[in-house]
Amino acid sequence: MEEVSGNLIEKINEAVDFIKSHNVTSPRYGIVLGTGLGALVNEMKIEKIINYDEIPHFPVSTVEFHSGKLMFGRLADKPVVVMQGRFHFYEGYSMKEVTFPIRVMKLLGIEKLFMSNAAGGLNESFNISDLMIINDHINLMTQNPLTGKNLDEFGGRFTDMYEPYDFSMVHSGLKIAKELGIQTHEGVYAAVPGPNLETRAEYRYLSIIGADAVGMSTVPEIIVARHMEIPCFAVSVITDLCYPSAVEKIDIQKIIAAAHKAEPGLTKLITRLIGEQDS
Ligand code: HPA
Repeated sequence: MEEVSGNLIEKINEAVDFIKSHNVTSPRYGIVLGTGLGALVNEMKIEKIINYDEIPHFPVSTVEFHSGKLMFGRLADKPVVVMQGRFHFYEGYSMKEVTFPIRVMKLLGIEKLFMSNAAGGLNESFNISDLMIINDHINLMTQNPLTGKNLDEFGGRFTDMYEPYDFSMVHSGLKIAKELGIQTHEGVYAAVPGPNLETRAEYRYLSIIGADAVGMSTVPEIIVARHMEIPCFAVSVITDLCYPSAVEKIDIQKIIAAAHKAEPGLTKLITRLIGEQDS
């Protein structure tokens, strides 16, 4: 539990000052590389890399395949900052830790946030390796990153969730996906704490309450970004199917292969979408 908001703000400012002391170009767009976006770095003109463990107060990644780097450079000729390695609540990080980098990216100058994740498909029209552009979410995580004293410097007490995912970017994302011939849906993402996967009864429940996909990330970061009124865009890669006629025992190799297959399409989609932004 964060003791007082003052401490958190000091920590955020120390992290920001440290990063700025490296003479990075001020980024306009922040990207959190989740599942299916690893290859995006190959599309980037990288100017500066800072390891998380060098940055004061930055959480350090634990999952081995997440190397933990903040990368500055250009994507589609736009100045971006990319988080390679993200923090999950199920790894034991607090909600304040999970969302700390989003606060830092805001003070570095980002105007929009882009994220990806892996998710189980609850909607019967979904297939493995399809993409789902998130148009809304249901937060079933047990904690919220905004509890405690409000950080007035960043936003108001009661964060509005009228447009958690930027309507116009959802629209543009779907249009780009269609032009690129990528199998893409839009839908509602349910966020659960994990790390266990869901029971059949839970999948049924999630489907009944209106979720199209389920996963264990993204929503804390989106909530904090919306607290700061940053427009957000997020995509799920459907890595396994969870509706009654398709649910199977989870096979991590199959999940990795499904994510891998979606990677080129998702990389193109995000690159094009960022290329089209001008605010
Ligand atoms: N449930 C929760 N999280 C997930 C799943 C799932 O089926 N697949 C990928 N992430």
